[in-house]
Amino acid sequence: MVARLVIVSNRIALPGSRQAGGLVVAVKAALRGRPGVWCGWSGRVTEGDPIAPEIIEGKKVSYVALDLASADYQEYYNGFANSVLWPILHYRTDLAEYSRADLSGYIRVNSYFAAQVSRVLAPDDVVWVHDYHLMRLARELRAGGRENPIGFFLHIPCPPPDILLALPQHAETIGALACFDLVGFQTDNDAANFGKYLELRGAAPRGANVFEIDGRRVHIGTFPVGIAANIYARAARTAAQSPFIRELRDSLAGRKLLLGVDRLDYSKGIVHRMQAFDQFLDDAPDWRSKVTFLQITPKSREDAHGYKEMEATVTGLIGQINGRFGEAAWTPIRYVNRSHSRKTLAGVYRCAHAALVTPLRDGMNLVAKEYVAAQDEADPGVLVLSQFAGAATQLQGALIVNPHEREGMAQAIRRALEMPQDERIARHGGMLRSVIEHDIDRWASDFLTRLSEARQKWSLLGGLRQMLSGLGAEERDSGKKTA
Ligand code: UDP
Ligand code: G6P
Repeated sequence: MVARLVIVSNRIALPGSRQAGGLVVAVKAALRGRPGVWCGWSGRVTEGDPIAPEIIEGKKVSYVALDLASADYQEYYNGFANSVLWPILHYRTDLAEYSRADLSGYIRVNSYFAAQVSRVLAPDDVVWVHDYHLMRLARELRAGGRENPIGFFLHIPCPPPDILLALPQHAETIGALACFDLVGFQTDNDAANFGKYLELRGAAPRGANVFEIDGRRVHIGTFPVGIAANIYARAARTAAQSPFIRELRDSLAGRKLLLGVDRLDYSKGIVHRMQAFDQFLDDAPDWRSKVTFLQITPKSREDAHGYKEMEATVTGLIGQINGRFGEAAWTPIRYVNRSHSRKTLAGVYRCAHAALVTPLRDGMNLVAKEYVAAQDEADPGVLVLSQFAGAATQLQGALIVNPHEREGMAQAIRRALEMPQDERIARHGGMLRSVIEHDIDRWASDFLTRLSEARQKWSLLGGLRQMLSGLGAEERDSGKKTA
């Protein structure tokens, strides 16, 4: 029998549901073609204690959907995960709002998730935990006697130890990652930062990217998350012919299309991007009325700290820019909070002349890769990409910008809109090869292969240790006998 892959993440995509966010996109792809279980939050919040998990049997995958009690939703999801870990791991210690009650909510929910996972876990299952919500899961499962291979992947950045140490009680969360057999990161920089943190906590290096701490070995590695590039490219070609995209094109009336696609999140740099577009319209009067900026921004985490304030800033700024530059027949920025299906988005990417992917920090950013995959190779658009997105380590054909430099971004917008076709083709070709080479199947299989290797080494080492301690005991026994 093939071992099952048991995925555990806070956010899950139940059959038929639509969720924005890179994690569900990646996990869905990783489960394709593998027998598995996906365990996570149903999205429901209950007033009393959560009722028994709902089990939904899919074709190859079964789903274990857990409800959260309202105190859990507040303390674990809005509180510790999204108002403490999210800002700190995105280098925004200034936005973190820590409380001990939230940390205990986080610990409680991790222990609840572990108990529910334990109930469905078979001895030969492989467990793969995703993201910052569930950093204690291996510690909890090990405490419950589970010795399955357990891996963890962090979809978001891992800052240097100086920032991690600002997290109160960090040993309870970041430190608990050492109980996993393998911890995966998006970039070498993220992995190196975690390695430095482990060393600060007294872990002993045991070869390249392996550390020993508290009697266990943890392997760390870089696994840049990808997309199903070829499938995506096909979807974009088909979607570009759809009535929705035809209507969008017609509505542009020959203007060029600039595109932004992000969850409404402060890490995405939407305010900085709008300020740069404002600067561009100021600097380039010849472009006024010849370009439309479409910003697709589904709302996200509205009850977590900092999100409502940022939304107000974004809408205020867009209103100002549209008021200042807009004309009766031209709105510079179209701002849409609706979430779009992945197929529709693929078509929108294909008809955009440039995409502005300019987060202040981002683990990877799948939108950047999707934009590249969706282009017409003979007449591709231009990707303007922040140096602080993990994707910048792979997509070097993009116009790389510092989102904190407004003038530089304004210049990059102009350059993108005016770039000659041969330069666009050359830049795009290299990026497309990289997106295809590092696709989502490779991400999942590289991670799972490393996890199984890490376990084999651990079992061999365990066996060797047992043998050695057995030999030591024999020697002591024979010593006693001869004495
Ligand atoms: N997305 C979507 N519909 C939308 C907006 C975004 O399906 O209306 C998807 C998008 O295609 C991408 C993901 O959400 O796959 C966003 O992932 P990314 O890594 O860019 O950012 P995250 O939201 O995970 O921080
Ligand atoms: C990012 C995180 C994911 C999260 C997603 C959407 O991609 O890395 O863990 O699922 O954002 O956020 P949400 O809070 O709605 O799950």
